[in-house]
Amino acid sequence: MALDPDTRQQLIETVRRFVTEVCQPLEAQVAAEDRIPDEVVEQMKALGLFGLSIPEEFGGLGLTLEEEALVILEMGRTSPAFRSTFGTNVGIGSQGLVMFGNADQKRDWLPKIASGEVVTSFALTEPEAGSDAGSARTKAVRDGNHYVLNGAKRFITNADKAHLFTVMARTDAATPGPKGLSAFVVERSTPGVTIGKPEKKMGQQGANVCDVIFEDARVPITNRLGEEGEGFKVAMSVLDRGRFHISALSVGISERLVSEMTRYASERKQFGKPIAEHQLVMAMMADSYAEAAAGRAMVLDGVRKYDAKEKVTLLAAATKMWCTEMVGRVADRAVQVFGGSGYIADYAVERFYRDVRILRLYEGTTQIQQMVVGRELQRMAKAGEI
Ligand code: CAA
Repeated sequence: MALDPDTRQQLIETVRRFVTEVCQPLEAQVAAEDRIPDEVVEQMKALGLFGLSIPEEFGGLGLTLEEEALVILEMGRTSPAFRSTFGTNVGIGSQGLVMFGNADQKRDWLPKIASGEVVTSFALTEPEAGSDAGSARTKAVRDGNHYVLNGAKRFITNADKAHLFTVMARTDAATPGPKGLSAFVVERSTPGVTIGKPEKKMGQQGANVCDVIFEDARVPITNRLGEEGEGFKVAMSVLDRGRFHISALSVGISERLVSEMTRYASERKQFGKPIAEHQLVMAMMADSYAEAAAGRAMVLDGVRKYDAKEKVTLLAAATKMWCTEMVGRVADRAVQVFGGSGYIADYAVERFYRDVRILRLYEGTTQIQQMVVGRELQRMAKAGEI
């Protein structure tokens, strides 16, 4: 249920204060130490950030996707590693349970996810199954009241901190594509589950990705989400929603970068006046502002349709495609406006330039979003809907 306008505004202002007073001053430290300080994680828990999307009956804030997007737009104004700390609990790590979990599974897990006591993670990608997620090879073989999992997942966000994984694994060896997959919640403490070392990455220091390995990991059948064979549907439904979340993040970062470039251009003088008064610099500021504003409008339109229960696969893919490419262009212009200084690590734009690169890759590359959009348009044409 949607919040009343006053409560919604209070929530947004609280998050904005948290971002400006707590997160922004720590950006350089988080990048240097590659970790979010424990006391900041505790503050996130106290603010309810881990439970934004978990229904109120399970201890979360039960926000609509529009409200969640408004919070994530605010979180975009700081290093994305802060958002990532609770992002998997809000999105891809928990939503399989929220959408497909049965009453027992929800009762057992969602309250701890909402409080942040349990950190969740989404394990779909494998070394040989990236964009072609339906070809995942991790096996889940039924043995009495358990499934025995064997296989390897790759680039799993927050795996180092996670207590619970939503895992897509093949229950039907005879069916090679998406239809042979099922979804499970798997506890990290399960014997046979090991987590690899955090990868060294281009950006987003403070948010880790690791391999997750399953070697004869016995998972109770009661941990399966939905029916056997529904795993791909679980993953895609979670990703449709997640793609709006990543789009909101992209727009929030774009807005931060517009502020950064505008402030810098207003102070930096060349040829006897602030560079903001040179028309070619103005053009970069104007294009960035307009594109960020267009992204905001696109996100808000999409999440409202999601909340109204419209089918949004097409719009989610189109929005992620546009907003993540857009923030790449804005980050590039921000570096350009800063000139040589933009290439120096003392300035936030250098870090954001690297941080935003992953947005065009994870939760489906731009090319996968284009493919989804192209396919959906063809489907609509066949159905006479377009
Ligand atoms: N919602 C519900 N069901 C869906 C769906 C959706 N959005 N998309 C597809 N399905 C269903 C289809 O209806 C179909 O079922 P039926 O045959 O019964 O109709 C079934 O799933 C298979 O669909 P496709 O034939 O379209 O499958 P495909 O193999 O051609 O692949 C794809 C589709 C869009 C390319 C998909 O594989 C995809 O999105 N790939 C990208 C993967 C991805 O985003 N990975 C990100 C990993 S997560 C991550 O990055 C997390 C992290 O840690 C940060």
